[in-house]
Amino acid sequence: MDNALEVQGLCKTYDNFALSNVSFSLPVGQIMGFVGQNGAGKTTTIRCILNMAVRERGLITIFGRDNIKDELAVKQELAAVFDEIFFVDTWRVREVEKAVKGFYSQWDASLYDMFIREFELPLDRQVKALSRGMKMKLMLAVAMSHGAKLLILDEPTSGLDPVAREELLEILRDYVAGGDKSVFFSTHITSDLERIADLVTLIDHGQIFHTGPKDALLEHFLVVKGGRSDLTEDLKRKVIGVSTTATGFNGMIRASDSAALPPGIETEAPAIDEILVHISKGEAHHE
Ligand SMILES: Nc1ncnc2c1ncn2[C@@H]1O[C@H](COP(=O)(O)OP(=O)(O)OP(=O)(O)O)[C@@H](O)[C@H]1O
Ligand SMILES: [Mg+2]
Repeated sequence: MDNALEVQGLCKTYDNFALSNVSFSLPVGQIMGFVGQNGAGKTTTIRCILNMAVRERGLITIFGRDNIKDELAVKQELAAVFDEIFFVDTWRVREVEKAVKGFYSQWDASLYDMFIREFELPLDRQVKALSRGMKMKLMLAVAMSHGAKLLILDEPTSGLDPVAREELLEILRDYVAGGDKSVFFSTHITSDLERIADLVTLIDHGQIFHTGPKDALLEHFLVVKGGRSDLTEDLKRKVIGVSTTATGFNGMIRASDSAALPPGIETEAPAIDEILVHISKGEAHHE
């Protein structure tokens, strides 16, 4: 299967932070969720993909083309939506199209009209007077009207109420339904992943903790619980993000480490939220 987006060995350093060897790939026609705690490196990764931040090492390709060498061609293929609006805030909704369409060779005015109507965006209202959900829809209408085949969104659902969030997820689902378009989005809201992601990439302290199909993610890890005396030195080395109480402990292990667990240890499948919490509590146990 061809990949819409491929990131290989991406490195980028700031004074107090480094993306190290970040690699993942998103096949055409699929939706990938990108999760990790605040400051994990999600926005930095997205900025490198969009060539808004300069990488030090690694390769990034979009539909097989290098995001720097083929920047102009790549820019027509992808659309990005950030959680802050980038339109001038005194523009009225009806003026936005005129201002942006010149940037794109494949602007589709009738598709844009359709989105504006479908999203019920008020044509006479100024950008600054739109609600957060309306702003997000306006940015999506632009992003989806210029023939882009890869949509990259940085926390599109943050700050939206549950109804608006569900609506937005549906828009993304429809967008990929034809099979030739793909979506990469970062989020803190794990229910978004449960609803629409085919693949999940987890990032922690600038390193990829796990990437792959969502269903496999949940099979890769196990929550383990037991009495304090069950927490042997061997088990301590395997447990990610352990917390202990007066009587017992609770942590997470990779399913591949589950052979020969001491008797008395309980195991269960984790929810995505639990995986995130254990990763954030744990030492770096990266792949
Ligand atoms: N231009 C910059 N100069 C210096 N440090 C930066 C710069 N941009 C980001 N960083 C640092 O890189 C780290 C990762 O930031 P990034 O914005 O990628 O995190 P994030 O995963 O998007 O977090 P959040 O969930 O809060 O949006 C942070 O420690 C941040 O302070
Ligand atoms: Mg961010």
